[in-house]
Amino acid sequence: MQKAPDYNNPQLILETSNLEPGHVVWRSPSNLAIVKYWGKHGIQLPRNPSLSLTLETAFTMTRLDYKAKESAETGIDLKLFFQEKRNEAFEARVIKYFESLTDIFPFLKQMSMEVNTVNSFPHSSGIASSASSMSALALCLCSIEHELFKTLEDDAAFDRKASYIARLGSGSACRSIYPGMSLWGHTGDIEGSSDYYAIPYEEHVHENFKGMRDDILIVHSGEKSVSSSAGHGLMESNPFAEPRYQQAARNMMYLIAAVRKGDWEAFGKIAEQEALTLHALMMSSAQGYLLMKPNSIKIMEMVRAYRKESGNPVYFSLDAGPNVHLLYPESIIHEVRSFVEEQLAPLCEEQHYIDDYMGEGPVQQ
Ligand code: DP6
Repeated sequence: MQKAPDYNNPQLILETSNLEPGHVVWRSPSNLAIVKYWGKHGIQLPRNPSLSLTLETAFTMTRLDYKAKESAETGIDLKLFFQEKRNEAFEARVIKYFESLTDIFPFLKQMSMEVNTVNSFPHSSGIASSASSMSALALCLCSIEHELFKTLEDDAAFDRKASYIARLGSGSACRSIYPGMSLWGHTGDIEGSSDYYAIPYEEHVHENFKGMRDDILIVHSGEKSVSSSAGHGLMESNPFAEPRYQQAARNMMYLIAAVRKGDWEAFGKIAEQEALTLHALMMSSAQGYLLMKPNSIKIMEMVRAYRKESGNPVYFSLDAGPNVHLLYPESIIHEVRSFVEEQLAPLCEEQHYIDDYMGEGPVQQ
């Protein structure tokens, strides 16, 4: 049994009469899981380990302004602006999230806060924003703690706590804290791995994967009909849940080996199988729902045909949505770009795709 870190700290209380108003700003990226997190239990704990690629151009920029609260009222006092407009639905979610964190950051009850958050990708692009937005918020909270109390002794301690806090906001967000690749969830094969936070994996990534490209093909940009949280919930009654968790644990072992060896073929095979399994699990859940669109399937078939014909290592992945991620080495970008522009972009909404790649991780501004 792994030990849960205990971040509760009643000493993080401010002398509010001395608090100067301040702000912190973080830019944090989205990430794409290769082995997927799908199914959770307890408080945001994964049913299986996952490994992801940290992205670069799909990010959230979040600024958190704080000042001493004027009233004695003890709830969370926060206003949230998303893409420069007050967003009450998102605000309510963040207030609930911050309320759940008051044993870890008791000072949150003493502040009036304003959050301004923007995504680099269009709101309607269908890109999952919870990983980038929740990790950006978690980083802001850890920065405030660090600035006001100097309690986070080094970068590793800071990142680990930020990952833990991000996980409580959205599971996949805990992996966005690290550059390159991140691993979340306990696996006997990796020392230090944990269900409570992600760990950096970049140093094990073979040269062949450095600069890996991820073209995100926007097939459909509307709201998802079933949220990821509801999807995780449906796994509890899915008849294929147990074999899935075993498959994920096996795929994790194979993926770790492929990433270390620089084996694109083994990597791509796992990426595609994981993507298709994720959607098969949605289809076989009690509500049997479909998030792929006809053009998602067309694109996946075309990618496989192109790979066969050209011999180029180009593979697809999917998130919980209809958009297709195209993964390939940086060295063949020119060839693959013509394929994307000529054959795949016409199947996308307004020919739209996001040109992304393995990134450097979050940056404080
Ligand atoms: C398909 O992290 O969005 O993207 O923890 O309920 O917020 P919550 O779910 P979320 O689920 C992401 C699922 C996925 C796979 C993955 O990122 O591993």
